[in-house]
Amino acid sequence: MSDSLATVSYIGATILFVLSLGGLSNPETSRRGNLYGMIGMTIAVLATVFGPRVSAAGIPWIIGAMAVGGAIGVYAARTVQMTQMPELVALMHSLVGMAAALVGFASYFDPTSHLQGAEKSIHSIEIYVGILIGVVTFTGSLIAFGKLNGKIGGSPLTLPGRHWMNLAGLLVVIYFGGVFMNAHSITDGIVPLIVMTIIAGLFGIHMVMAIGGADMPVVVSMLNSYSGWAAAATGFMLSNDLLIVVGALVGSSGAILSYIMCKAMNRSFISVIAGGFGTAGGTVAPKGDAAQPAGEVVPISSAETAELLREAKSVIIVPGYGMAVAQAQHTVFEITKLLRAKKVNIRFGIHPVAGRMPGHMNVLLAEAKVPYDIVLEMDELNDDFPKTDVVMVIGANDIVNPGAQDDPSSPIAGMPVLEVWKAKTSIVMKRSMASGYAGVDNPLFYKENNRMLFGDAKKMLDEVLTVLKT
Ligand code: TAP
Repeated sequence: MSDSLATVSYIGATILFVLSLGGLSNPETSRRGNLYGMIGMTIAVLATVFGPRVSAAGIPWIIGAMAVGGAIGVYAARTVQMTQMPELVALMHSLVGMAAALVGFASYFDPTSHLQGAEKSIHSIEIYVGILIGVVTFTGSLIAFGKLNGKIGGSPLTLPGRHWMNLAGLLVVIYFGGVFMNAHSITDGIVPLIVMTIIAGLFGIHMVMAIGGADMPVVVSMLNSYSGWAAAATGFMLSNDLLIVVGALVGSSGAILSYIMCKAMNRSFISVIAGGFGTAGGTVAPKGDAAQPAGEVVPISSAETAELLREAKSVIIVPGYGMAVAQAQHTVFEITKLLRAKKVNIRFGIHPVAGRMPGHMNVLLAEAKVPYDIVLEMDELNDDFPKTDVVMVIGANDIVNPGAQDDPSSPIAGMPVLEVWKAKTSIVMKRSMASGYAGVDNPLFYKENNRMLFGDAKKMLDEVLTVLKT
């Protein structure tokens, strides 16, 4: 493939990636957005592999590596459970980071590189910064992976003097950056490069360990952004314009998403990154354990739930992570269809951080074919709860916790929540009194107008559906 054809292909792929991002911003156009992205990536890969910078001898190696990587990717995508998706994404981010770091080392040791003067200095900066971003992304994403799948606890690690430690690490990295830039030979640069790599790795671990459970959504989007910058850094090291553009697109969209997440949780980005939030103070229960009971709860049966739904004129369904675990979205839609046929005004309330990844609930509801026009954002719906007869909270916990508004000492204090307790009756479906991801007790459960429908959400909803049908 000639140089000019490769450039034209790169421009075409870039346009497709921009269209893809545009499409992905709305559920109705997201399939098209995905398609644009897939076509763009195919063009990008073909133009790179068969482009002017890859020798014929290298092509079989690349195809072999693509076959192995592709097979692992297909296997992972086919076997992963919907609830494991956030972990998979975190793992993918770590691979982007690792790739950037490995490309950095390979560029440094490249025996065919004979750059001199300013060009050499610029390339050295690209390598140093590229490895730095790559390693932080790699280790940070691995810790996020552990936190998302529960292997690492959600409480923030608050080491004494941690901000000073981070500052000292940064100063050492800057100092060794100077040593690296002034190194006269490849051998002289190895020590500063390795010291920086170790500090970057420890910083990535420390940064994510210091962030509490409730702030994990910001971490997920932030690492998404880092993986973009790591790809852009790889683009600089390899002088690949497409990788720079695509990396910058991912990096900036991830940064915008982090901003949106922070706004949704009423947090400042700096305080999240500085860490230590999420489970500081408040009634914290170990993840998955029963929170200390703070009152009496009133249980309800599935038959009684069905009766309440039958009599209701307006219903709001608030789905959360538990709906994803139970895979209850299809039954939820069956119930929705039935109630809509009876002219009940039924809508869905989606919290920006419901579930374990941005848009988690929207994806599940779209999969079950719930019409988009009855799926509303928290802000569009929060004023309607006082006029609502029944709210069904399906496997949600933190996002409906009134403590976020009433209890300044709560770890989730200040986070906007869906005000379900203002409805005539709220029904919370979950298996036990266990706390949610943030590990805090939920005063909603003890409210007078709240009922608890204990059990697996899918099983309970199947029972409700059976009664509604009779
Ligand atoms: P959570 O607060 O985590 O609550 C989910 C509830 O679902 C749990 O209390 C659990 O109680 C219940 N549950 C689990 N399996 C169930 C099943 N099979 N049937 C019925 N119930 C089940 O979820 P949420 O309200 O969606 O809030 C999201 C939380 O995750 C927030 O704290 C948010 O900050 C955090 N987070 C979000 C993201 C993103 S980007 N969305 C990323 C990371 C973390 P039982 O065990 O008693 O059933």
